[in-house]
Amino acid sequence: MLKVIFGYTARIANERKLDNILLLMADMGREMIQADRCTLWLLDRESNELRTRVAHNVSEMRIPANSGLVGHTILTGQSVIIEDAYRDARFNQEVDKATGYRTKSILVIPIRDSEGEIMGAFQAINKTTPEAVFEPRDIEFLTLAAYYSGKSLEAAMLANEIEETQREIIFVMGEVGETRSKETGYHVKRVAEYSKILALGYGLSEEEADLIKTASPMHDIGKVAIPDSILKKPGRLTPEEFEHMKQHTTIGYNLMKNSKRRILKAAATIALQHHERWNGTGYPYGLKEGEIHLYGRITAVADVFDALGSERVYKKAWELDRILELFREERGQHFDPDLVDIFFENLDKFVEIKETYQDEGVPLEL
Ligand code: C2E
Ligand code: SIN
Ligand code: SIN
Ligand code: SIN
Ligand code: FE
Ligand code: FE
Repeated sequence: MLKVIFGYTARIANERKLDNILLLMADMGREMIQADRCTLWLLDRESNELRTRVAHNVSEMRIPANSGLVGHTILTGQSVIIEDAYRDARFNQEVDKATGYRTKSILVIPIRDSEGEIMGAFQAINKTTPEAVFEPRDIEFLTLAAYYSGKSLEAAMLANEIEETQREIIFVMGEVGETRSKETGYHVKRVAEYSKILALGYGLSEEEADLIKTASPMHDIGKVAIPDSILKKPGRLTPEEFEHMKQHTTIGYNLMKNSKRRILKAAATIALQHHERWNGTGYPYGLKEGEIHLYGRITAVADVFDALGSERVYKKAWELDRILELFREERGQHFDPDLVDIFFENLDKFVEIKETYQDEGVPLEL
């Protein structure tokens, strides 16, 4: 038992990602008390929901904070042991009905932060021993497990909160840049999603792909400094106007370049380089091939794919076939040829995102 505890708490202490801590704690709990399933629920007081991660690569699960036995424990602070869930009125059978799983024995304990406030609950289902029921000892063990990993959990929750806040601010700022030029709200969202697909296809880690996804909505933030007479001009820009427009890259870069934050550094690079071209004919510096940062090359593909498929004050939206033709022509010219290949390999995902986040009707008038 001590081996299990020390083995897991060492790993948990080294883990920064909240999701991974939740999964490790659940694994630790399951091993300690021999449960078939174990879930760690966290209370989100703002939305009054309980949330968890049940497996890697499965998205977060949320339930109302007052639902079922977990909700009962959150509300009362009491642990519960149930021998047969289906004979307890507090048990919510909906989850079983949806999954085909048969819940029998259940154990739920509250977990508290360092100030003693309830911050969530451990829920164990189906004891795997022959007796098949949880015992009071199991409550002690789980409480111990929660106690030993509590500090790491709290630190990760705080870090998570700060990162979420950063993400939201960056996303909103990106939207500000875009709405100035009448591009509707979903443009930055789609560019973020496309960038992540390209990053993953390129072989970057999930974490780095998320970094690019978070930073890419800022690519056009420099447009906030471009006058309306240019930004909202219905027709083609004159060469002078286009020279002015090109400055949105360096303006965006200068806004963010001094930040020490990883996300903003990535965003600064993307703002500067998203109009560079593989063959060296882009701006602001005419960099070519590998001289262009990968993040800039990725955002270039995502941004142009989205710009072509969208209506602008100065152009109509293009049909998909015409867009694909441009990407075939510009492979190794405007765009990194490897990224164009990844784009075509993942075309179904691009199309799905394009359809999911559709702008309605005419672009937003500000
Ligand atoms: P944007 O509208 O977001 O377009 C981003 C990029 O998508 C463009 O970068 C270009 O590479 C590609 N793109 C967009 N529309 C077309 C198109 O109809 N044909 C082709 N071949 N490519 C297209 P680019 O050209 O460096 O322009 C940067 C920004 O400058 C544009 O961002 C837009 O805000 C502005 N802009 C460019 N051309 C015009 C124009 O003729 N009139 C106005 N009002 N704005 C323009
Ligand atoms: C849940 O997993 O949704 C909670 C199960 C319960 O009702 O205790
Ligand atoms: C958000 O909506 O706050 C996150 C934006 C994103 O990364 O998609
Ligand atoms: C343009 O015609 O504005 C740009 C052409 C291209 O994106 O290749
Ligand atoms: Fe741009
Ligand atoms: Fe853009």
